[in-house]
Amino acid sequence: MHSVVALTLLATSAIAFPSNGYSTGHGSSKLNIQVGDRPYYLINNMDDGPLKTKLQSCSEGPFKPSDFVVSHRGASLQFPEHTTEGLAAARRQGAGILECDVAFTKDKKLVCRHAQCDLHTTTNILNTTLASKCTTPFQPAANGQPAKAKCCTSDITQAEFKTLCAKMDGFNPNGTTVASYMDGTPYFRTDLYATCGTLMTLNEYISIVDSYGLKFTPELKTPEIPMPYDGYTQTQYAQDMIDAFKKAKIDPERVYAQSFLPDDIFYWIKHEPEFGKQAVYLDSRVDTPAGYANATASIPDLAKKGVKIMAPAFFALTKVDPVTKKVVPSEYAIAVKKAGMDIITWSFERSGWLNRGGDYYYQYVKDVINNDGDMYTVLDVLAQQVKIRGMFADWPASVTYYANCFGL
Ligand SMILES: *[C@@H]1O[C@H](CO)[C@@H](O)[C@H](O)[C@H]1NC(C)=O
Ligand SMILES: *[C@@H]1O[C@H](CO)[C@@H](O)[C@H](O)[C@H]1NC(C)=O
Ligand SMILES: *[C@@H]1O[C@H](CO)[C@@H](O)[C@H](O)[C@H]1NC(C)=O
Repeated sequence: MHSVVALTLLATSAIAFPSNGYSTGHGSSKLNIQVGDRPYYLINNMDDGPLKTKLQSCSEGPFKPSDFVVSHRGASLQFPEHTTEGLAAARRQGAGILECDVAFTKDKKLVCRHAQCDLHTTTNILNTTLASKCTTPFQPAANGQPAKAKCCTSDITQAEFKTLCAKMDGFNPNGTTVASYMDGTPYFRTDLYATCGTLMTLNEYISIVDSYGLKFTPELKTPEIPMPYDGYTQTQYAQDMIDAFKKAKIDPERVYAQSFLPDDIFYWIKHEPEFGKQAVYLDSRVDTPAGYANATASIPDLAKKGVKIMAPAFFALTKVDPVTKKVVPSEYAIAVKKAGMDIITWSFERSGWLNRGGDYYYQYVKDVINNDGDMYTVLDVLAQQVKIRGMFADWPASVTYYANCFGL
């Protein structure tokens, strides 16, 4: 639409198209999207019906990147999360938007990590000389007590952070040695690519995703230490995250800033409106029944305050209709749409096998979930009935296949 207006201007008044000064980041027009084996495996596993038939009809593509597909922590079903390798895999799988969860280091630099204090489960820090800097150094399991460790980005400098290797997220609480504690990858994931994954600063992430010509979704992670931290305030932290994009001359329309803290969202709406207008409110209030009811009731007020995109975990967006036994939109989903807001949700492909009714993500529909292919039944309701704008995925290819099949 913008370009049509610009062309009209050019044609009628010969005014040169004004450069907006933003980084171009146009990626590669030849990018060959690869969805791999998994979507075919899942579709084959589906119960017979129109959705399966439709998905089967799309088997030979073509597949292209889609903004409906949001890479969650990279391609974290198989690749160590928040690594350059994970981003490359997510891009190859067709994700249009790539995530970096943002945490700060001891020297108040911003890096990509899912939590401020997950270095002991997502990196090799315990097996390095930096282990002694951890908030809680490793203590082996003993006398019926589980092993302990807690290592935070704020325990080390950015330069030290960059010396670490990423591993698959996990730990063995029964570990009696560092090596056995670190050996905790869930069975449905893999260590095949956990060969010293490359950690990233926020700036490195920005330059990689910009070079891909794709979009960004940085998440301001809730600090796990009291703020202000050594003079560093929450608002400075929220501002620094946005400033990194401004400094790299990234068009705010390519950036979906997220936070679980409503005050961060309100801060961006007020102080960085170009970013605030598509900030994503990650809503964890839905995790308890009382919180779910409160969250649903609060939607009109949030809309009034300028929040445009809500993002609860996807279980909160559907339920089973008691009469038809079909998966249908939830009260929360209906309230958000009624308020004219968009929905982005998380996280597909995080659950492993669904043959036992799934996990957290399928808690409201578990009675109708009994095989892995059923995940497409849920995605279809989210896409066609809830009309979500995007789905985070630990394995973007599974969503890319669906999105391309349905023209999303
Ligand atoms: C840890 O040990 C307990 C008790 O032996 C056992 O039930 C549990 O499965 C073990 N956990 C892991 C991850 O090995
Ligand atoms: C710990 O580090 C040593 C030396 O770099 C390496 O040989 C070993 O494989 C590492 N162990 C683990 C569990 O990463
Ligand atoms: C829900 O809202 C009520 C009334 O505002 C409040 O008292 C209660 O603590 C809230 N519950 C949760 C779980 O947020």
